[in-house]
Amino acid sequence: SFISEIKGITKLEDILTKRLGIKKIVIIPSSIDECPACSIDMAKAAGRYFFSIMREHKVIGITGGTTMHSFAENLPQMKTEMPLTIVPARGGLGEEVEIQANNIAAMVSKKLNGHYVLLHVPDNIDKDIMESITSIPQVKSTLEAIDEIDLLVFGIGNASDMAKRRKSSDKECMVIKERGAVSEAFGHYFNIDGEIVYETSTVGIKLDKYKALNDIIGIAGGKKKAEAILSIARINRNLVLITDESAANYLMEIT
Ligand code: F6P
Repeated sequence: SFISEIKGITKLEDILTKRLGIKKIVIIPSSIDECPACSIDMAKAAGRYFFSIMREHKVIGITGGTTMHSFAENLPQMKTEMPLTIVPARGGLGEEVEIQANNIAAMVSKKLNGHYVLLHVPDNIDKDIMESITSIPQVKSTLEAIDEIDLLVFGIGNASDMAKRRKSSDKECMVIKERGAVSEAFGHYFNIDGEIVYETSTVGIKLDKYKALNDIIGIAGGKKKAEAILSIARINRNLVLITDESAANYLMEIT
């Protein structure tokens, strides 16, 4: 029945929250592997949790990807103005423009009637060029806003899928693989223990900043992302994870 299904999910949430040792887990009662359209439910669940805590915050960091795009798209439109600044947490990361953090930050800001800043820094440029770009006042002020992030909403990727999607060079793909990367988030690749093994060459949120955050909402589902989720859960235990049944069931097997 519906009630026992709810009870089952609640129990699964409780067990997994303890096993991963994180703040909270919300599991939607469907599998996005079997029902890709159900990812909308995951996005909406993330939106509900986000709404429940956003008023305690000032600067919201947002990352890119299809999950984050769906999160933004499915946020309800606020009627009143929210005193929030929405910032892309990281550069373009080789993504198509629609799903870049800049675009998603602007989408979220429109939904909340907030205020947004953008990060105009190309990916994969030389270190010295990067240094001159980051001294441009507009870029500098966005980087300062990134330092002020007090709530991060982010997507989590499977490391090899992300390396492919970014059209990383064969050499880069090999390095990522050889170093045992299983996850990717905000431009960083991590191994199963949550240790950083590779960082993409863009500016934006740093690992130390992520580790110091009290409020972080990670949204990721599907069996293929279960290991990635486990790896990310180990970096900062304040994580609130919004996921689906297929990731949750596989996490039960591997934890
Ligand atoms: O590239 C931006 C990003 O947020 C990555 O950090 C993450 O690995 C990925 O997108 C997740 O993408 P998706 O939600 O499409 O799986």
